Amino acid sequence: MDIKKYLEEKKEIVDRALENYLPNRAEKSGEADFPISLRKAIRHSLFSGGKRIRPILSIAAFEAAGGKGDRILPFACGLEMIHTYSLIHDDLPAIDNDDYRRGNLTCHKAFGEAIAILAGDGLLTEAFRLMTKEASADPRVTLDIVNGIARASGISGMVGGQAADIESEGKEVDFSTVGYIHSHKTGALILASVRTGVKLGGGDEKTLKAFTRYGESIGLAFQIVDDILNVEGKAELLGKNTGSDLFKKKATYPSLLGIEESRKRAGELMKSAIDALDPFGPEVEPLREIARFIVLRES
Ligand code: IPE
Ligand code: IPE
Ligand code: MG
Ligand code: MG
Repeated sequence: MDIKKYLEEKKEIVDRALENYLPNRAEKSGEADFPISLRKAIRHSLFSGGKRIRPILSIAAFEAAGGKGDRILPFACGLEMIHTYSLIHDDLPAIDNDDYRRGNLTCHKAFGEAIAILAGDGLLTEAFRLMTKEASADPRVTLDIVNGIARASGISGMVGGQAADIESEGKEVDFSTVGYIHSHKTGALILASVRTGVKLGGGDEKTLKAFTRYGESIGLAFQIVDDILNVEGKAELLGKNTGSDLFKKKATYPSLLGIEESRKRAGELMKSAIDALDPFGPEVEPLREIARFIVLRES
């Protein structure tokens, strides 16, 4: 299959749905208006590029599990909103203090810290409103999905990983700490994206188990590759600055294992993700290709 074309097509679907949920004018969404500064800041971060890999994973898993139609879109977009909020807060001076993101100024550089913090808060909350608003699934399934996404985003997931990331800066940390940081700050939401798709698509326990192994492997691989790209990627392609992890003495795979070993580890995780899908047929081909894309990407 042509993975580039697949990713482009799905990205377009996600972008269109996001535009529909958060248009540049309130009357288009049929929702109550809110301050223009907040709308601009949210749209600045949400629509300045981004691979949309989490929503695409949720769609690919949904379709692989037998799901049909666009019931997945509120969840797919919710996942992207949570991810975008995490990037806005990650870039703040108190956290990573970065000036560029998705090829643009970071939210706080463009709109100031207060509005950037609120834009993040707004995206996080809006994600949960959206996912619980469109009740097209069995309420028990929705509840289970939303609970899983909350767990993956919060203290037991991304927020926990971010706290450990910050507290490890400048320190000698062991391998298990870096593993915790990576699987929580990044892996958890990626895994939740895959599991969301399986659950909404009506996948059985066997499918959920296998796709969970897949999601865990690509989630960790994703952050290892992000670390590698921070060392040797091209800022123009990435849309964000490189070299910052070394400067800030971040706990990363390359700092602990070196580039070659990190690359090897990412390759092993790609293989273990693809192996987890062995019992399935052509319906999981997009997921296989996404695992390859995650490890071989340059941006
Ligand atoms: C970057 O995520 C931050 C991490 C969690 C590693 P992505 O590489 O998915 O960023 P976008 O969404 O494409 O900008
Ligand atoms: C980002 O991790 C993780 C989250 C935003 C939750 P990094 O700080 O390593 O990612 P980049 O390199 O800034 O995108
Ligand atoms: Mg960070
Ligand atoms: Mg960062």
